[in-house]
Amino acid sequence: METRIIDGRKVAEQIKAEVTEELQELSKKNLVPGLAAVLVGDDPASQLYVRNKTRTCKELGMHSETIELPGETTTEELLQVIDRLNQADDIDAILVQLPLPDQIEEDRILLAVRPDKDVDGFHPLNVRNLVSGKVGLAPCTPMGIMYLLKSEGIALKGAEAVVVGRSDIVGKPMAFLLLHQHATITLCHSRTRDLPAVCRRADILVAAVGQPALITRDYLKEGVVIIDVGQNLVRTEEEGIRLFGKDSERISKIKKKGYTLVGDVHPRDPIGVAQAVTPVPFGVGPLTIAHLMKNTATACRLRRG
Ligand code: GUN
Repeated sequence: METRIIDGRKVAEQIKAEVTEELQELSKKNLVPGLAAVLVGDDPASQLYVRNKTRTCKELGMHSETIELPGETTTEELLQVIDRLNQADDIDAILVQLPLPDQIEEDRILLAVRPDKDVDGFHPLNVRNLVSGKVGLAPCTPMGIMYLLKSEGIALKGAEAVVVGRSDIVGKPMAFLLLHQHATITLCHSRTRDLPAVCRRADILVAAVGQPALITRDYLKEGVVIIDVGQNLVRTEEEGIRLFGKDSERISKIKKKGYTLVGDVHPRDPIGVAQAVTPVPFGVGPLTIAHLMKNTATACRLRRG
């Protein structure tokens, strides 16, 4: 079987083109959507994510604000920042970058964000809307994946969808979104008994467990569509050769940068077996940010439009 490699960057451009149209509509009402990103502490990965998010806002002509707070910030101090953003009329979307430092009570923070500005869909009210299939704000990565499945013409009605990984950010919301499109869902995880056999049921397999190259040939049914959400670092040449082969350009990447990325799916095993697969990098990654932009525009339209 010929396996199609899905370029997430192209799908992200489609999403951004739709956002641009939505922005033009909103500008007729003198509305410019605004996103506030809150970053606590100095985790380099989180800094990079937040920088990419605000850069994309600017690229599309949206308003954005980054609030950087020291690692010792208390729950009360962060609540005050949220309160200000909740009241700011030019801010439609509030994103608190996770994970937060240990001393901060994450639940109190996520509960404090106004539900209609909760661009990640983490507030209980938005979770409830997601579970019951109502329109609203839902987590950006699963929403981006749903967009990709639709734009690639993948049939979901009656299909067997297996989601590996039960996080609040990806696995659980992914399962509900697929369910609402009439897929039969199996939500499994690292402790599922005979995980390969469960995965072999899948017409659509979403891997979001954070285990490098866990999903190998043994997990795949011929013709499966694979969505790989994993972003794991490979730091040694030895592991690089095992995963990518000794002639891969990834080996020189490890030598040059000190690492390369691998998903939760083995990078070579799906080829010739799967119908389609998202690569790592440049698969699901670009969709998350693109859909954050879409959610920001949606939040603006729902609250002010
Ligand atoms: N950290 C990792 N992924 C996410 C996400 O989607 N949203 C937020 N706020 N933090 C994250």
